[in-house]
Formats: sequence, C-alpha cells, structure tokens
Amino acid sequence: MADKRTAKLTLDDGREIVLPVFEGTEQECAVDVSSLRKETGYITYDNGFVNTGSCQSTITFVDGEKGILRYRGYPIEELAENCRFVEVAYLLVYGALPTREELDNFSAQLTERANIHEDMKHFFTGFPVAAHPMAILSSMVTSLSSYYPTSGDEEWNFDDTVARLIAKVRTIAAYSYRKATGEPFVYPRGDLSYCENFLNMMFSGEGKNYEISDKALRALDKVLILHADHEQNCSTSAVRLVGSSRAPLYASIGAGISALWGPLHGGASQAAVEMLMAINEDGGDCGKYIAMAKDKDDPFRLMGFGHRVYKNYDPRARILKQSCDEILDELNIDDPLLSIAKSLEKVALEDEYFVSRNLYPNVDFYAGIIYRALGIPVNMFTVMFTLGRLPGWIAQWYESTQDPDWRIWRPRQVYQGETSRAFIPIDRR
Ligand code: SDX
Repeated sequence: MADKRTAKLTLDDGREIVLPVFEGTEQECAVDVSSLRKETGYITYDNGFVNTGSCQSTITFVDGEKGILRYRGYPIEELAENCRFVEVAYLLVYGALPTREELDNFSAQLTERANIHEDMKHFFTGFPVAAHPMAILSSMVTSLSSYYPTSGDEEWNFDDTVARLIAKVRTIAAYSYRKATGEPFVYPRGDLSYCENFLNMMFSGEGKNYEISDKALRALDKVLILHADHEQNCSTSAVRLVGSSRAPLYASIGAGISALWGPLHGGASQAAVEMLMAINEDGGDCGKYIAMAKDKDDPFRLMGFGHRVYKNYDPRARILKQSCDEILDELNIDDPLLSIAKSLEKVALEDEYFVSRNLYPNVDFYAGIIYRALGIPVNMFTVMFTLGRLPGWIAQWYESTQDPDWRIWRPRQVYQGETSRAFIPIDRR
C-alpha cells in the first residue's frame, strides 16, 4: 500500500494538524481540509475560491498554464474540428462519444421535444419588447418546472429532461429574439437539425427567403462546442450550488443562466463587442482603450481579456480567432471589428501590463464577431453562450447528484460585524 500522502499545518498557537493529500488523474494535488474546523476550530479563507476545489469531477480538464482544454479527455481542438454540437452535448452528458445509432436517437429526442407548451407562449406577451433575452431565458427555463416532471417527481426521467432542456432552451432563445423584433414565432421543424432549427427559427418566416448556409451551420456548431463546458466556472458552480439543495434541474439551470449573464463572465461576449464598436466609432484608437484598461482609477477593463484559470492563450480564443477569418471570408463579410480586435490583441500582448499579468484573449473576445456574421444581435450573445454551455451545466449537475458524498453546499464565513450589544427601544435611539 503506497504511503498515505499528507500535509502538516502548524497553527499560530503551536498546534499541528496532519491533513490528507490526494492527486487527480492530471497530477493536480489537493489538501483535504474537511476535518480542519472539527479538529482545530479554524476554517480556511480563500477570496473568490482561487485556491479552492469544490468537487472532484471527470467531465472537463483545463490546464491554465499550458492552455489545454479537454471534454471527457478529448482535446477541444479535435472536437471543434470533427464534431457537431449535439454530438459533443451527448459526450459531455453521457461520458462517451455516441455511436451513429446513439446520436440518431438523441437527435430524434431533441426534435421530438423541441416545442414548448403552448401556454408558455403567453409568457412572452408579458415581457416588454426591450426585455433582455437573458432575463426571458432565465425565467422561462425555471418555469419549465411548472410544465414538466422535475427531479423528485415519480415520473421524472433524466434522459427526457436532458432532451427537453437542450431542445426547448434553444426554442425559447429563438422566440426571445422574435419577441424583440415583433415577428411571429417560427416553430421548430422535424426535418431540421438542432442548429438548422435555431437559425431557421431566428431568421426565416413568411415573406422571407432565408437560406441556411452550410458555412453558417459549421460556424454555429463550432462556436457552441467551444462554449459547452469549462469545469467549475462561476455559472457551473451556481448550477452545482443550487442543485446541492436538491432543487430541480430546471431551477439549477436557471441559476446558471443568471450567473452567466454578468459582464465578468458570459456577459463579456456582449461587452467585448460593445467595446470594439466603441473603439471603431472612436476612430479605432486602441492605445486609448489599452491605457484606460491599465488605469487603476478607471473602471474600464478590456472585455474578453484575462481569465481566472488561463495564464496562457485560451485555446478556445485561438480557434475562434481562426474561425472569424474563415466565416467572414466564406460569407464575404468585411467586419471592421475583427481588425480592431486583432490590433487590440497585438497591442495588449506587447504591453508589459498585460504580459506581466498573463492577460490573454479569452473565449468571449472573438465569439461576438462570429455571432455578428451570423446576423445575431449583440444582446443575444450571452444567450448563445447559454445554448453552448447548457450540456456542460447538465453534466455537472448530474455528476453532483450521483456523488456518494453529496452534501448541501454551505460555506462558512469570518464574522467581522458588531459583537453582542444591548437592544435600544426606538424612543431612546
Ligand atoms: C468567461 O471561469 C471560467 O472558466 C469562465 C469562462 C467559461 O468558459 O466559463 O472561461 C468564461 O467568463 C471568460 C471571462 C470573461 N470575462 C471578461 O472578459 C471580463 C474581463 N476580464 C476580467 O474582468 C478578469 O480577467 C476575469 C474576471 C476574467 C478574471 O478575474 P480574476 O481572476 O479575479 O483576476 P483579477 O480581477 O484579480 O485580475 C488580476 C489583475 C488585476 O490587476 P492587479 O490588481 O494585479 O493590478 O489583472 C487585471 C486586474 O486589474 N486584469 C485586467 C483584466 N483582467 C484582469 N486589467 C484590464 N483588463 C482586463 N480584462
């Protein structure tokens, strides 16, 4: 039996505690502090959980130093090049690349469950035209639990719920766009694939001769694959946290959508393009915006840059940057924002401020250029991130529910408020 690995912690009062150490399959080592408070009364403190592992997972591996990303062991580069999004969704949720038959069955399930309950269409009437589609999406997805069995119900079935969520969230996303444009909803079709249906529901309709191009489809598949999972990021942690109370999967996904919305997370795809648009309107002066990003007194940040884990080039950004060139060439689009993005990247990566902090373009920096080329409006960019990330969230939620050591997540705190004091009646305050 190999010697048990341990770490010894000596506290400021001289007491020592020996804690177990364990290692992951990619040689990441962890000190298990589960017994720390019980044995010493001390807790750990880790602002932003920079150094804290919340779980053990077999789904996605990220090496931030080397710029490596793998879903279930498969390099993201190979999946993005060779797969359709639905195939990768299956891989993430079920842990293996599907056979042809498994993929056909999964696709058929998505087609069968693509419509939302007709009553849910009335929800859209209540939203103002200017409602942000992420607000619509998060509320509609949680509301799915009012129409379909949820975990805890006798008739609940995980596979059915997976298909419902992946198919219906796509439909709700397209409807939220049609709500904003005032156009009639286009229903999903049984003869179209997942991505074909999305583009068709977004852009076709009476009097429109919208043709789905293979190049647009290929670009959409690839961009969704690149967003499909990313270990324990903010929104995935929200999904796991809500799921840890045994809340329904729909509610956990609704929480993930809300967390993704923030501009420091998935909302950065919208913020990054808005930044590029501002630079373009400002004469393309990248230096001015680089200076603002470096100025500690200026809240401006280079959106789509930097990452908690990647201290090297985000492999997804590398693929997206190349895809931008391909899709714009193929669709014969000249988007000035792409050259501004490339100039901004070049200036930043030659600047000591960014180099010394290992700040590189992340997944959100180039994604918006592709969405624009597909005709998707800026306020839908984080919705696109949601469509991509959904299978990852589902896989992570399910993995947490299968954990034999499953516990509700309930962090501790260090209290810094008032110590005990006597109550003062209102007439004497
Ligand atoms: C995603 O976690 C994931 O995996 C997320 C994601 C996924 O797939 O789920 O990869 C998707 O959310 C990507 C990130 C999208 N967000 C943005 O692009 C917003 C801009 N980026 C930053 O706000 C920031 O880089 C974060 C939020 C991404 C990371 O924040 P951290 O890890 O808390 O880093 P930090 O804020 O502590 O920054 C460290 C230093 C600071 O300077 P100093 O205090 O050392 O002087 O770097 C600076 C920061 O000021 N810095 C930036 C910067 N990002 C960090 N300065 C200017 N512009 C930036 N973008």
